[in-house]
Amino acid sequence: MTVLITGGAGYIGSHCGVAFLEAGYDIVVIDNLSNSSDVSLQRIEAITGQKVPCEIADIRDQSKLEEILVKHKCSAVVHFAGLKAVGESTKMPLAYYENNVVGTHRLLSAMANTGVKQMIFSSSATVYGEPQFLPLTEDHPTSAVNPYGRTKLMIEEMLGDVAASDPAWRFGILRYFNPVGAHLSGQIGENPLGVPNNLMPFITQVADGRREQLSVFGNDYDTRDGTGIRDYIHVTDLVEGHLRAHEVLASGSAPSNCFAVNLGTGNGYSVLEMVRAFERASNKEIRYAFAPRRDGDVAECYANTELAEKVLDWKADRDLDAMCRDTWNWVCKNPRGYETSAD
Ligand code: NAD
Ligand code: UFG
Repeated sequence: MTVLITGGAGYIGSHCGVAFLEAGYDIVVIDNLSNSSDVSLQRIEAITGQKVPCEIADIRDQSKLEEILVKHKCSAVVHFAGLKAVGESTKMPLAYYENNVVGTHRLLSAMANTGVKQMIFSSSATVYGEPQFLPLTEDHPTSAVNPYGRTKLMIEEMLGDVAASDPAWRFGILRYFNPVGAHLSGQIGENPLGVPNNLMPFITQVADGRREQLSVFGNDYDTRDGTGIRDYIHVTDLVEGHLRAHEVLASGSAPSNCFAVNLGTGNGYSVLEMVRAFERASNKEIRYAFAPRRDGDVAECYANTELAEKVLDWKADRDLDAMCRDTWNWVCKNPRGYETSAD
């Protein structure tokens, strides 16, 4: 059984490739390398000792997708490819709708034309908008406050409509909270290009001296220390959730032919708690200064994990210390990401 992994050279996709190969699946990757390096694919091969067939192509190229699905005899898709920076999405909304929404439409069309009817989709806790209650359950009302979030919501709705049109389709929508961490080997990890938007990669660049200090966006939230609280989840736990979702879909034991579940730990940590955990893991001081709140940020966001436990028989079990330790191990072994390695 071959699983097509779109965006498989990226941060989460590369970890997913390892998990699927280690579970005995054949995979094929499609990636246009717009936010990744093909070195990650060589690293997947080094970790697993298996070849990773890869097509450097764009998911908007429907005929190429059809060719790949047929050539590799794919039976399912795990769909990571897309643009993901919230701030950039407000400046380049058309690029986001084109890559994410049009790209997914082309992918679904190619799947329909080739009879491949199973997909796992990378959604996000961003679809819940401003939390009306916590922890967030899957039936929390959805809303989006930026173009990136709207693309995720539109895709979720598109999948729901396609599933309703034909019971043969099977979709697992996975709403990620805040993925961090790296593979235990330190061979693959997050490799942001330019100035990182997200907390963990920014902290690592302060720890390794590339950046002077972290700006902590807001210390006047109604939280235990005034800084924003998020549900950080180790990327290895996250991709194990994908493996379970794939198994549940393939075995026909899903609660419906289009289900959505949260992938989080259920624990919220503040920015300052994250800084301290990283200091413990790295033995480095993380200099920081308080700065104004960032537009669009919510005070607190963490998952109710009961539905994922029930539907997937899965629970994240790596703690914040492991997330920081594995991130630091990856950064120390790859001080400039995939461009250079410390080995
Ligand atoms: P990433 O940028 O590392 O990976 C995405 C990959 O898709 C990259 O390798 C990129 O080159 C590729 N890609 C982008 N557009 C493409 C296209 N049109 N055709 C082919 N390949 C294309 O991002 P990631 O952190 O691994 O995220 C994977 C998915 O998870 C994304 O859909 C993202 O929106 C979603 N997600 C991520 C987070 C997070 O914090 N990392 C949170 C919630 C949801
Ligand atoms: N933060 C800082 N300084 C920084 C970066 C972040 O203080 O330099 C704070 C933020 O204000 C927030 C927390 O750290 O309180 C986490 O911020 P991230 O940018 O790492 O993550 P977000 O929760 O804002 O967003 C992430 C992804 C989104 C996704 C969302 C929900 O970037 O794509 O999780 O899944 F939609």
